[in-house]
Amino acid sequence: VSLKNFNTFGIDANARYFAEINHADELAELFADPQWLHMARLVLGGGSNMLMVADFDGLVIRLNIRGIEHRISHDDVFVEAGAGEVWNDLVNYCVDHGYAGMENLSLIPGSVGASPIQNIGAYGIELKDVFESCQAFEIATGTIKTFSKEDCKFGYRESVFKSELVGQYIIVSVKFHLSLTPKFNLKYGAIEQELAARGISEPTLKDVSQVVSHIRVSKLPDPSTIGNAGSFFKNPVISAAEFEPVKQNFPDVVNYPAGDGFVKLAAGWLIEQCGWKGKTVGNTGTWKNQALVLVNHGGATGHEVYALSSQIIDSVYTKFGVTLQREVNIVS
Ligand code: EPU
Repeated sequence: VSLKNFNTFGIDANARYFAEINHADELAELFADPQWLHMARLVLGGGSNMLMVADFDGLVIRLNIRGIEHRISHDDVFVEAGAGEVWNDLVNYCVDHGYAGMENLSLIPGSVGASPIQNIGAYGIELKDVFESCQAFEIATGTIKTFSKEDCKFGYRESVFKSELVGQYIIVSVKFHLSLTPKFNLKYGAIEQELAARGISEPTLKDVSQVVSHIRVSKLPDPSTIGNAGSFFKNPVISAAEFEPVKQNFPDVVNYPAGDGFVKLAAGWLIEQCGWKGKTVGNTGTWKNQALVLVNHGGATGHEVYALSSQIIDSVYTKFGVTLQREVNIVS
């Protein structure tokens, strides 16, 4: 089965076996057959955070579990969505209903089920800020388990599903804790500027959602026309001691405090300083408005993109002594 239409990089790679899951019960049915239990597995939501560098010699499980439910209690709103719902459809549903909390996460590609895995985030909000719990199918036992926020051990683009429990669970639904009273987070400079440019001083949820969407569209390539997986690398978090020489040699280095003795650098800035921004290399390159985004200009193989990412890691290390880590999942 070709996965070209199932990954936003648009890489033409194949999977040996493919199963589509429309209901959580179908996972138990699938894994009742031992042949699938012992095979390499790849769980696909929107395919928006992966790079396929080879054909996948195993079972691809595409999650298509749908449904959105909500419960209101005083000012609190609990919204539960199936893993296969499109993330931005859920954001729009919440914005349209006046459920506040997700508006800064507008237009992030991908599925609801993938959102906790790397604790998606943008414009001052992370998934963990609106996360209540999730239900996940445990492959080894065939049972569904509930994970609280604490159980998930969220960090910057991190969770338990990427670390100690990797490969063991399949998220089937996610419950969010929102509210009827907005608590806007408009600290991100571009949001303030765009609201001001639109003459909006008392924004609604919809205003914020539209402004965030506008900022994303202006900076990030649309995967339906130019293959990409958003930020290809994480923003590196380094110790104050490691930061010292970088700051000495590059006084304008973009940096943010990252808690107790740590500093977060802007990977896009580091990459741009190495001369990569907007560069085309064969069928791949970096995006002209955001050097942190690698793109498939058409017909690129996963290998080509991966090779470019390795070159970028090398040149950032040579110039700054900082090692970038890939944020997208590499599938081989
Ligand atoms: N910058 C450059 N050159 C570039 C790109 C960025 O100098 O080519 C500078 C910007 O001027 C700014 C700083 O780097 O000073 C940060 O840039 P930006 O605000 O665009 O955000 P980012 O740190 O590059 C992160 C997330 C994005 C998220 C934005 C907005 C990561 C890995 N990426 O990017 O998330 O949308 O912040 O909050 O944390 C994703 O994870 O796929 C993603 C798109």
